[in-house]
Amino acid sequence: MKMKDNLSIAIIGATGLVGRTFLKVIEDSFLPIAKLDLFATPRSKGIKLPFRNKELIVNDISNIDFSKYNVALFSAGKEASRTLIPLAVKSGALVIDNGSYWRLHKDVPLVVPEVNFHDVLKHKGIIANPNCSTIQLVVALKPIEDKFGIKKVEVSTYQAISGAGQKGIDKLMKEIQTGETVPVLSKHPISFNINFHSITTKFGFSEEENKIINETRKILHRSNLKITATCVRIPVLVGHSESVSIVTKLPFGLEEVEQTLLESPGIRIVDQPENEEYPTPKIAEGTDFVYIGRIRRNPTEKNGLHLWVVADNVRKGAASNAIQILERLWKETKELIFDFPKLTDQT
Ligand SMILES: NC(=O)c1ccc[n+]([C@@H]2O[C@H](COP(=O)([O-])OP(=O)(O)OC[C@H]3O[C@@H](n4cnc5c(N)ncnc54)[C@H](OP(=O)(O)O)[C@@H]3O)[C@@H](O)[C@H]2O)c1
Repeated sequence: MKMKDNLSIAIIGATGLVGRTFLKVIEDSFLPIAKLDLFATPRSKGIKLPFRNKELIVNDISNIDFSKYNVALFSAGKEASRTLIPLAVKSGALVIDNGSYWRLHKDVPLVVPEVNFHDVLKHKGIIANPNCSTIQLVVALKPIEDKFGIKKVEVSTYQAISGAGQKGIDKLMKEIQTGETVPVLSKHPISFNINFHSITTKFGFSEEENKIINETRKILHRSNLKITATCVRIPVLVGHSESVSIVTKLPFGLEEVEQTLLESPGIRIVDQPENEEYPTPKIAEGTDFVYIGRIRRNPTEKNGLHLWVVADNVRKGAASNAIQILERLWKETKELIFDFPKLTDQT
């Protein structure tokens, strides 16, 4: 029987990069977990994954009974999100989803706790985690928006190959070992190279670029925000980096910007470039902070500001952000984990 003083959690996609990271993040969480069950495709049935000095056995998703769980954490891709999440919600489980399928649905809050936690209060059973590159961007933008107002954003990403899941890591490692191109994700090598995410039309944006643009607008509640993006994958295992150019509405001082960011939740400033102190993927790896450095003026714009923004895409960009949402719900509005109006096919 489901109890309201503890949680029964299912992880869907537990064998993946994000799924395994969920286990690590939950290990360190204060959440009172009575039951934690793991699910993946039938081919992963029986795999054992470590959790708090025990081993948990991965179950076949075909056998899941969502009514046994208060919370279902999804990191199993768009198709699993599309088909399975409505079943989970119907059975009474609150879903936090890492996939992209539900993110822009009008009744699904898209949440980064440091930025727009209040949006969660309107959930109808599904809470979406933004794309990894969006999460670190909005953590950096929100304090600037609040203090100076934002007129325009241009972002260029340098994304770790783990953003494409385990198969991305396997591609990079195999290419380094063999010197041969592994034709997954792209026909181009990723080792010693740069790839774009898939682009379906000439002169068009990639899906990743559109995700950053649309998700940032939704999270900041700025549907007409001027924002554009160029996204690439680079041969780094973990940690996305972003070059962010902002034009603010109000004038700013650089110390004021630094102080504002320093005082904002989830941010660490690493900005003594004269001593080679700047954010790198290796600094961010394994942590839940968004690292900001290279704070400087863009001399080509009135009120132009450059930032360099780095975070662990698998932790803050996925698993940790989802658990932070759940932790805040537990602390601040526990009832919304157990009782909520359910999203129906009509909404
Ligand atoms: N990697 C990142 O940095 C990142 C960041 C933000 C969001 N995300 C999103 O998180 C999700 C997972 O990403 P990942 O990097 O962990 O990918 P991954 O390493 O490829 O893992 C995918 C996981 O999903 C499972 N799976 C696939 N189809 C399934 C289905 N129909 N039913 C149940 N389980 C299924 C896989 O099971 P098997 O092992 O049995 O195949 C595996 O456990 C994706 O939607 C991705 O876009 C990833």
